[in-house]
Amino acid sequence: MSGVHNYGNNFGLRDEIKAYWSARATTFDLSPGHEIFSEEERAAWHRLVIKHLGKGDGKSALDLASGTGVISHLMDDLGYRVTGLDWAEPMLERAKAKAKSRNRTISFRMGDAENTMEPNAAYDVIINRHLVWTLVDPKAAFAEWLRVLKPGGRLLIVDGDFVNVSFAEKLLKGLANWLQKRGFLKPDTVHMPADLSGVHNSILSRVYFSQGARADAVAELLRTTGFEQIVVDTDLRDIHKTQAKNWNVVKAAARGVQHRYAICAVKPR
Ligand SMILES: C[S@@+](CC[C@H](N)C(=O)[O-])C[C@H]1O[C@@H](n2cnc3c(N)ncnc32)[C@H](O)[C@@H]1O
Repeated sequence: MSGVHNYGNNFGLRDEIKAYWSARATTFDLSPGHEIFSEEERAAWHRLVIKHLGKGDGKSALDLASGTGVISHLMDDLGYRVTGLDWAEPMLERAKAKAKSRNRTISFRMGDAENTMEPNAAYDVIINRHLVWTLVDPKAAFAEWLRVLKPGGRLLIVDGDFVNVSFAEKLLKGLANWLQKRGFLKPDTVHMPADLSGVHNSILSRVYFSQGARADAVAELLRTTGFEQIVVDTDLRDIHKTQAKNWNVVKAAARGVQHRYAICAVKPR
């Protein structure tokens, strides 16, 4: 398969995922939808977090798969005491450098979101963005998050189905490409180096949610793990509207029709 290296038997799917994100670290923050490029967008994210998790007031938060620390910073803004955990060293380096340059005391450490090595009942909240779709074993991961949360603690997942592309999205993306090629629309900002798209697709075809991480399937798995008060929130328009300024009008509309969601769930007391 193009772009996929043969590392031999000792190099499993998790190592591939780690290597993929390590290679993505350099350009990750250049992409709208990853890093935040306006105060309006930051405020929209704050509203989403407050809606589901409330304000920090010194509560402890674990940002799983923290990447370059975008979500960790949002949580820190809101007064949470934040630990970011990621298994890709180049992501962690960037997260640490960013926190230092912004004068934030966020602690970042290396670890696996499926096996955090954190003590039982250690956190008031757990948050993650764009992690669940790529989990190898979400059942184990959700059980681990339940263990690490305090009783009554809240989990917020932000994710999407990046496999099942609707007809409307295909049409809008096709139109955007056609108009871009002819110079009618501004070109895209860097998203993913072209040589990594084969690796991305190969990984996606082998993870648990290879058929797409639909919100109802994720919610059901959370329920069977033991979470309660599960709320699926598909109204992310507030955020998408503020992000739209970074894209041309057709690409922005395409994002608006994607299956993206936030899911909040509570550990029973
Ligand atoms: C799409 S990025 C998201 C980064 C960040 N959450 C954000 O939204 O900006 C995915 C991140 O998940 C990390 N990751 C994926 N699976 C992981 C796992 N099992 N344990 C720790 N980190 C993981 C990758 O290293 C990468 O930094």
